[in-house]
Amino acid sequence: MKKIILSLAVLSVLIGCKNENSSMHVVNNDNQDVELKIDSLIKLMTIEEKVGQMNQYNGFWDATGPSPKNGTAAKKYEHLRKGWVGSMLNVRGVEQVRSVQKIAVEESRLGIPLIIGFDVIHGYKTLSPIPLAESASWDLKTIQESARVAALEASAVGINWTFAPMVDISRDARWGRVMEGAGEDPYLGSLIAKARIKGFQGDDLSDVGTIAATAKHFAGYGFAEAGREYNSVDIGTSTLHNIVLPPFKAAAEADVKTFMNSFNEINGVPVTGSSYLQRNILKDKWNFNGFVISDWASIREMISWGHAKDKKQAAEIAVIAGSDMDMEGYVYIEELAQLVKDGVIEEDLLDDAVRRILRVKFELGLFDDPYRYCDEVREKEIVGNPKHHEAVLDMAKKSIVLLKNEKNLLPLKKEGQKIALIGALAADKNSPLGSWRLASDDNTAVSVLEGMQSYKGNSLVYKKGADVSIGKTAFIEEVKINTTDKSEFQEAITAAKNADVVVMVLGEHGFQSGEARSRTNLQLPGVQQDLLEAVYKVNQNIVLVLNNGRPLAITWADEHIPAIVEAWQLGTQTGNAVAQVLYGDYNPSGKLPMTFPRNVGQVPIYYNYKNTGRPINKEGNVFWSHYIDTENTPLYPFGYGLSYTTFEYSNLKLNGSKFNVGEDIKVSVEVKNTGNRDGKEVVQLYIRDLVGSITRPVKELKGFELLEIKVGESKTVTFTLNSATLGFYNNQEKFITEPGDFKVFVGGSSIKTLEANFELE
Ligand code: BGC
Repeated sequence: MKKIILSLAVLSVLIGCKNENSSMHVVNNDNQDVELKIDSLIKLMTIEEKVGQMNQYNGFWDATGPSPKNGTAAKKYEHLRKGWVGSMLNVRGVEQVRSVQKIAVEESRLGIPLIIGFDVIHGYKTLSPIPLAESASWDLKTIQESARVAALEASAVGINWTFAPMVDISRDARWGRVMEGAGEDPYLGSLIAKARIKGFQGDDLSDVGTIAATAKHFAGYGFAEAGREYNSVDIGTSTLHNIVLPPFKAAAEADVKTFMNSFNEINGVPVTGSSYLQRNILKDKWNFNGFVISDWASIREMISWGHAKDKKQAAEIAVIAGSDMDMEGYVYIEELAQLVKDGVIEEDLLDDAVRRILRVKFELGLFDDPYRYCDEVREKEIVGNPKHHEAVLDMAKKSIVLLKNEKNLLPLKKEGQKIALIGALAADKNSPLGSWRLASDDNTAVSVLEGMQSYKGNSLVYKKGADVSIGKTAFIEEVKINTTDKSEFQEAITAAKNADVVVMVLGEHGFQSGEARSRTNLQLPGVQQDLLEAVYKVNQNIVLVLNNGRPLAITWADEHIPAIVEAWQLGTQTGNAVAQVLYGDYNPSGKLPMTFPRNVGQVPIYYNYKNTGRPINKEGNVFWSHYIDTENTPLYPFGYGLSYTTFEYSNLKLNGSKFNVGEDIKVSVEVKNTGNRDGKEVVQLYIRDLVGSITRPVKELKGFELLEIKVGESKTVTFTLNSATLGFYNNQEKFITEPGDFKVFVGGSSIKTLEANFELE
């Protein structure tokens, strides 16, 4: 009891919370006021309490990584009471959050509230499509709305901080985590990063429906060698600055409150220990004033990397490098205080980290009311609210990409058809939730089967055909492993024989992509390819609906199957979204955010590649940059996607042909809907800087606009280019715009474009 009174007293002196006449709205006070309060609070803290703020514990169970000390709940409680814990992750639900917050606030000496983190990646209970799928919409408003809904649900269960968005650019479909990002392009990735951050954080972080966001994983994680999870990264200055860092910079500009570093090293330095990234670039150059959380135990993992000899050295390296909080690593809490006492580390470093952490807590309004996210009534009303289902359905439809549509197979006729629906994934209510569905309930997705059943005019027969094959991975006991069993093929073949149209839902199970799910094979897993070919022999009217968390190499399907729909893992409303697209109640407009290879050997494959010194010489000899067994070109390029209508591009115009550096360049184009349905089109603008002191990619996306165009209607879009869009980072890390010749391309994908030239003087 004495302790409780003391902690409240201390807080009342510090922040005026106990003053009956005070407004109680700390976050509304100006920044200076908050900074003063933080300073005075830091002055009262012992070294151990400072280190405590830099310590994050997992909830009392294992969630996403190996916990070094199982059965440590008692210790965690004890540390909470001592004020040695600044944050917890994977504690969720008002009851749980309140119970840990109560210990921190009412039993610790200073009563500093915890910040509660969770991986709210594409929703909390009600799930949106996986982030890669959402990115295929190129619809920034809807992506922002999806993050807003996620924040609303998460904030209603006590969470006030998400470890999202993942803004890692990746060109490697083997890497399982491509599902969690925005694809391969830094420009698109930057805009999506901003949209997601805005969705999570809103305009005012003290609004109880918003949560702090995290730009992760800083940096380079998406370039893991050979796509193997947690592997080394070895990239040059140009790739780092022109490809990897831009979305992080955009996140900092969007006022993201936290950054997470990552498991990888770059060029021999684990990024958790990189002063260059965390101090020089993030905190100094970009003026980031939030805090950096380590990835799960990544500080300790510097020992396995061979960069630190023990925990003590790992702590020293990480804190000097600017890693402010240790996620479930037990390194800071066990080593830092002694390092300060021994004079190895300046206490100022701790003060800086603590100041950053407290600042975010202030901004969240936690000092105003530590239980503001703990309201049972809100929890009941908000989690799973029907409005959220509408929002995720909207996002899901917009995420679908039509890859092929011959013989007018799609949209399906609504009446008088015999339809055979085949594939284990068609009836799966779990897989569409993806692998980041920590808080959603099992089997809560609308399956494709259910979605199609809601259209009553046709006769619909469902046959599984075969289970999806899934390799060894965590959390998947319920998924059957099948690499050989074809015993149910015949039933599917018979159903297909008797059908007018066959819809086959094939691809990866939701747990086949995501963290630690790298693959060396990008084909349909298990016996699904055999199933597809067996069905094709009896009925060629096949619509292939793909489920996957990464680009797949479906070359045979592209050659043979008339209609292919990329439906990713679309979250809670999957089946309704797919059915509405198949039946034409929604006209698809998604465009690929990542290149699809012809086969895995082409990976990494991406649209903004360099020309090489030997780009093409088909008539001559063999000595040019190519493969002897396949094309250089992808199966489906970046930016590609069809509609049930068609669009024609014409009249590409520039407001001149010569411009001074710094001058605006206006590029306009006319787009006409030449088909027989209203539709949406993502108009894309790319440039090529023909000669550069650092060689430039053959194309770089520099603008896009999502247009709704009615049948027969034309619309004109005007883009503006300027020095910022035409420049790049040189190898001295300087952003420069070089005079010279440029090309500009506008079209509906990265390859089908009109083009024009201009010169920059
Ligand atoms: C992942 C992070 C995630 C963290 C906490 C790690 O394994 O790499 O992205 O936020 O776990 O769950």
